[in-house]
Amino acid sequence: KDNSGKIFKYVLIDSSDSAVEIHPHGATITSWVAGGKQRLFLSKKAILDGSKPIRGGIPLVFPQFGPGKLKQHGFARDTVWELLGYKDQSDGVKAKFLLSENSSTLGSLWPYKFRLVYTILLSQSSLKLSFELKNTDQNPFSFTTLFHTYFVTSDIENVRVNNLEQTIYDDKIEKSVDNKETSDAIRFTKSVDRVYKNTVDELKVTISNDESILITKKNLNDIVLWNPWAEIAKGMSDFGDEEYKTMFCAEAGSVSTPIELQPGNDWECHMQLTLQ
Ligand code: BG6
Repeated sequence: KDNSGKIFKYVLIDSSDSAVEIHPHGATITSWVAGGKQRLFLSKKAILDGSKPIRGGIPLVFPQFGPGKLKQHGFARDTVWELLGYKDQSDGVKAKFLLSENSSTLGSLWPYKFRLVYTILLSQSSLKLSFELKNTDQNPFSFTTLFHTYFVTSDIENVRVNNLEQTIYDDKIEKSVDNKETSDAIRFTKSVDRVYKNTVDELKVTISNDESILITKKNLNDIVLWNPWAEIAKGMSDFGDEEYKTMFCAEAGSVSTPIELQPGNDWECHMQLTLQ
């Protein structure tokens, strides 16, 4: 808590070299230490006072990916979530957060009642993030969602994303759709903003010569790769001009086709990051 008694972060510690920090604003994970090292990028210019979404860590995109009727990436990352509880268990430490309709979400633009439970399970070398969504409204609604994961690297030149060869992707920078990936090890050498569609559920991300992270996912069809690179970075007020060299986003989500959820129905997904 800060001096005024306001909670500014929750910390889960599993062992001496694994811990996670969660900011109540957006239930944004702002730090994941595994194997004794920080694995997530958080901008030095990130705004942490709740006045805007947090630039870095793992903001949650729901119920809208990108621009649209709602503000960019939806309201989940820009709303304070409620801590439901936490627990030490044999497979790690777990915390559960809740987002349900409230004055900041139940606007006329998305007038639906819902219950979204976010579970964070931290274990020795992995972080498992799960969503359980229930439509508690009388009407169906559709949504897109994504774990907007910012990884940290000491040098972007060493980063490779594997297992997307032959996958079809839309490129938001080139403004082209349905391209086929030809590389078995994607690199970031310029501004990248792509949605890979219907991807495999296990991807390897190489961070440096001797570090890699495995992303596994369930019920999330797509992977978004993003790095603003120099020029776009300059136009971002909460991102340092040089920080594009030390970060990249590899984001598991369901964004290319909205999911429709009927009244009373449930939907679940998860993403797990495992240090290799
Ligand atoms: C990515 C999108 O997921 O998020 C990009 O594909 C977007 O188009 C980026 O620029 C960052 O978005 P924001 O709203 O956090 O600046």
